[in-house]
Amino acid sequence: MSALAALRLTDPDEKVAATRAISAISLDGATDSIATEAIRTTGDDLGVPGRPERPLRVAATAVQKRSPFTTEGRAALIHSICHIEFNAINLALDAVWRYDGMPEAYYRDWLRVAHEEAQHFTLLHAHLQDMGWRYGDFPGHDGLWNMCEKTKDDVLARMALVPRTLEARGLDATPLIQGKLKRVNTPDALRAVEILDIILRDEVGHVAIGNHWYRWLCERAGIDPEASYPALVARYDAPRHKPPFNLEARGRAGFSAEELRQLSQAQDKA
Ligand SMILES: [Fe+2]
Repeated sequence: MSALAALRLTDPDEKVAATRAISAISLDGATDSIATEAIRTTGDDLGVPGRPERPLRVAATAVQKRSPFTTEGRAALIHSICHIEFNAINLALDAVWRYDGMPEAYYRDWLRVAHEEAQHFTLLHAHLQDMGWRYGDFPGHDGLWNMCEKTKDDVLARMALVPRTLEARGLDATPLIQGKLKRVNTPDALRAVEILDIILRDEVGHVAIGNHWYRWLCERAGIDPEASYPALVARYDAPRHKPPFNLEARGRAGFSAEELRQLSQAQDKA
């Protein structure tokens, strides 16, 4: 099984099982076959990413915001995070198969991310099912995958704009969501807070992996990571960082002192 084959699977449970299997193999040092076999066997993106017919894909602006003080509203919230995690499995697998010629550690890192995203999806999906819903019962939007599409020919832009931009927003958003759920204070809301603790802990590591490889690629290209970042945001029309920022988590995730200073300044102005 290659990362591309796992990425193409449409059934969430099959994708989770395949992702677990290939990340377990990678621990024995066999990332070669997982990463590059795929590159040799395909020249196109047909069937990428594999995803189920549901959730229906809608524009981000069309996703209804619901109150977390109703059970259905909380299910919709858990579903939206579940959908992000499903996309996150896909984007980690995509980072593995798409880019040739990176160091072994790069493939190992992204397989670890894929494995953890599969765990996040599984935890949230189990919780959603306990609440009486399933993945696919609400619509979802495609923001994460769209940025993968746009950056498919440029691993440096991918590292800059997917993990350290879009996924970093999860570090900012998660404590706010947890705060709301704590105020709701029902058993299902408190279980969701626990799951989000696990997710936040792991996502710091994922953003750190993005930061590490972004800086590594900048060094290889002989460009300055901090000066190059705004140009990449503009070129690929990426979302800007929006306050409030979780500066503590972003610091652990490898943003530099200068980047944190700029974020904190932007936050003070907002
Ligand atoms: Fe995740």
